Amino acid sequence: MGIKHFLFNSTLCLHRWMAKKVNADLHMTIPRGKTIVSHRMDYDAVSPPCLERYNGLPFLDMGCTYDYVRYRALELMKEQIENLPGSVAELGVFEGNFAQMINYLFPKKTLFLYDTFQGFDERDCSLEQEQQFSKEALSGDLKPLASDPIEAIRERCPYSENLVFRKGYFPETAAPDKNETFSFVSLDADLYKPTHAGLEFFYPRMQEGGVIFVHDYSSGMWKGVKEAIQDAEKIFGPFKKVPLPDCCGTLVIVK
Ligand SMILES: C[S@@+](CC[C@H](N)C(=O)[O-])C[C@H]1O[C@@H](n2cnc3c(N)ncnc32)[C@H](O)[C@@H]1O
Repeated sequence: MGIKHFLFNSTLCLHRWMAKKVNADLHMTIPRGKTIVSHRMDYDAVSPPCLERYNGLPFLDMGCTYDYVRYRALELMKEQIENLPGSVAELGVFEGNFAQMINYLFPKKTLFLYDTFQGFDERDCSLEQEQQFSKEALSGDLKPLASDPIEAIRERCPYSENLVFRKGYFPETAAPDKNETFSFVSLDADLYKPTHAGLEFFYPRMQEGGVIFVHDYSSGMWKGVKEAIQDAEKIFGPFKKVPLPDCCGTLVIVK
């Protein structure tokens, strides 16, 4: 066995071992002698480093373990943007998994949380069906389980005094925040209309160097998200885009 062959086999074994450790699927294709290795974290995977890191903190296991790459990306991003002025925000909060992490990482920042807290709105779903973006999106889907979702989110957030809840239909609920600026925004509303409205509202209000995470950009499940970004670029010009290899294909936009 030549040295190249030996090194290749050892690397392959190492990758397989690592993939097993983090419960990831490992895909290898070897087109024309080149090796491409990509990992996809399993939805049910429990990533050991992540569990260690957040053990003892009031985090739901699911929130930071099922999508280690997205949570870790936000954690690393914190170092880059925490000294920028401006608030932080999330559009599409649901039960507050990611909001909890934003609140934990930016303890001195006001966190604006926009959601109907009653699931998708009919005004957004009809376009999804017409344009075949996501036929399965129905009004009322993703209604949080808790009888008082806002209180439940307050309870799980470590700096709940920083939370500002905007309950109702976005973009209507953003009207009081026209004079705000932002250093970090998470857009996670799944559908074309709120995603587009989110970019229209937040992008001009982002600090220079500020960052927007757009969930589901590359997931293929919510096709309207990518369309919304392309349409927003017709208004604002090309965004600086960095796609992440996380569970649902987050896109990072840097202002
Ligand atoms: C995928 S969930 C968000 C998940 C959340 N970021 C998390 O960490 O678990 C999508 C959310 O977007 C909200 N949403 C969708 N369209 C909206 C709109 N036009 N206005 C307000 N909220 C909306 C839904 O109510 C739902 O809670």
